[in-house]
Amino acid sequence: MLERSHLADNALQALHDEDYDVPFNTQSLNHAGMVFMGGRASTSLDGDWTFCVDLLDTGLRQKWFSMLPEAPEERTEPWDYDPYTGETVPVPSNWATLKEKWYFFEGSSWYTRPLDVETIDDGKRLFLRLGAASYDCKIFLNGVFLGNHYGASTPFFVELTGKLKRGRNWIMACVNNTRTRDRVPMRNTDWFNYGGLYRETALVETPASVIRDLFVYLVPDGSYSRICAEIAVDGDLDLPLTLSIPELGVDLTCPVDENGHARVEFAASPELWGPETPVLYNVTATFGDDRVSDRVGFRQIERRGTEILLNGKPVFLRGISVHEDDAELGKVTNEEDLRRRFEHARELGCNYLRLAHYPHHERAAEIADELGFLLWEEIPVYWAIDFANPATYRDAQNQLIELIKRDRNRASVVIWSVGNENPDTDDRLTFMRGLADTCRKFDPTRLTSAACLVNHARNRIEDRLAECIDVIGLNEYYGWYEENFDDLAAIGENSNPDRPVVISETGADGVIGPKGPEKGLFSEDYMAEVYRNQIATLRQLDYVKGMSPWILYDFRVERRQNIFQNGYNHKGLIAADKKTKKKAFHILADYYRQLAEGEENARKAS
Ligand code: GCU
Repeated sequence: MLERSHLADNALQALHDEDYDVPFNTQSLNHAGMVFMGGRASTSLDGDWTFCVDLLDTGLRQKWFSMLPEAPEERTEPWDYDPYTGETVPVPSNWATLKEKWYFFEGSSWYTRPLDVETIDDGKRLFLRLGAASYDCKIFLNGVFLGNHYGASTPFFVELTGKLKRGRNWIMACVNNTRTRDRVPMRNTDWFNYGGLYRETALVETPASVIRDLFVYLVPDGSYSRICAEIAVDGDLDLPLTLSIPELGVDLTCPVDENGHARVEFAASPELWGPETPVLYNVTATFGDDRVSDRVGFRQIERRGTEILLNGKPVFLRGISVHEDDAELGKVTNEEDLRRRFEHARELGCNYLRLAHYPHHERAAEIADELGFLLWEEIPVYWAIDFANPATYRDAQNQLIELIKRDRNRASVVIWSVGNENPDTDDRLTFMRGLADTCRKFDPTRLTSAACLVNHARNRIEDRLAECIDVIGLNEYYGWYEENFDDLAAIGENSNPDRPVVISETGADGVIGPKGPEKGLFSEDYMAEVYRNQIATLRQLDYVKGMSPWILYDFRVERRQNIFQNGYNHKGLIAADKKTKKKAFHILADYYRQLAEGEENARKAS
């Protein structure tokens, strides 16, 4: 009888273990491990990875990550999954849209791919960068657990330096998208719970001394004539650190402190970035052999009383909300999908988009910089969250810092939003005040906001969070969820906000085509009437400084299952085909055209 091996015993024991003997929730892959990517070359690891769903976390119990590649006929012990063979999926992807059998799958899944390395120990550093993994992503290299990342929509890095072997290595990712009470968002959302490695994966090689972060901005002092650069490096701190912006005649050497931080401020007179003048400047930083670059627009966004000012001039945010959702691609986006979104926003007459309810792909803000759109970016502190849980706060704060460090060179991003429609409780106030403070700590140049709720009992804008944020986002659905339209006007009379209000959501479902009803709720005509009434009321409220109706496109969601919805939320101004415009699209476009013409006439008259 063959000696029962340790694995057989472990496997048997593992069947009964509720907890595993490897601490898998280190969350050691977080914002502190980020590497500045602007201008860096990287080697794509996208393509086919072997894949398996793992509903019971058998892979962690039986340590699938510790198996070695071996021909099936050579194996001497029974196995439940071989990570090196079998079904593959394309990365990036979300499993729900790949196969019917995975549509509603929620749990762990295993991704594995080889990584062949010719040279190691050449003084270079190697990082694995994952653009996003939904939600908990545990990384293993050659069977060793390297840490995990929490958060479904922000990039993270795993340093592989010194851990690789020459020749063939194996990377494994265990990605778990289970909705749990302590996660951000929690269990209940109104968007589809896509799981997977759904943004790009890459290997990034840097010199031993590396530029971790580069933040360049116009000093928001109203002079429009000073630029600040904050740079973080690690390695040999005696190496020279330089910053250059050739078109502005800037070429500086920056002193680095003992923590590897540099902060320089200098006079410069850039052409200001804005929707009509999306001017971007090439910025380069070098540190020893390391070199990064970015294309940065310089502008100032601020609030004064109830006004939002861009470069000192009042601006009205003519916007629309967008999700990351596609009938075929799921939460995966690409250049074509992103540029189509901005083209439709342009057709609508927008100068602004709300990227709801989580960090979108980094290309969204890069394209918005080029095209001259203003953006609201947000972390998914959505509806009910375990606000009293310190671990939940740490997760939310890390997602926020990862978003800010990823996008704070993007002139288009003018608002960081720390949440959406959260119940006004003491724990929530403490939690979200902390997040608003975090925004200001990591980026003093932008406005903070959150999508708040109306106080329906008193029919007024009244949310204690308002005092912690610069702009009050207001989600109101008069004409849809709230029956009495007159209440919307009453809010106008009853409220006296001391800061700008942006209608962060309003709208109604409208199912277009043969599946939709001719009249009544869920009909296209009813949706159009809601838009007419909303516009007629909102245009009277002078403290409303912008709006981003809900939403540009119909989107997939599990909870919407009536005979018209069929698993989709139909509040899109455009159907899920991202082509068919509804009547409400033209009604909103007409209003935005009137606003833009009014602004143009005011400019000419001044
Ligand atoms: C809410 C929420 C959205 C949701 C929308 C709706 O306000 O913020 O995420 O999709 O309303 O009910 O359609």
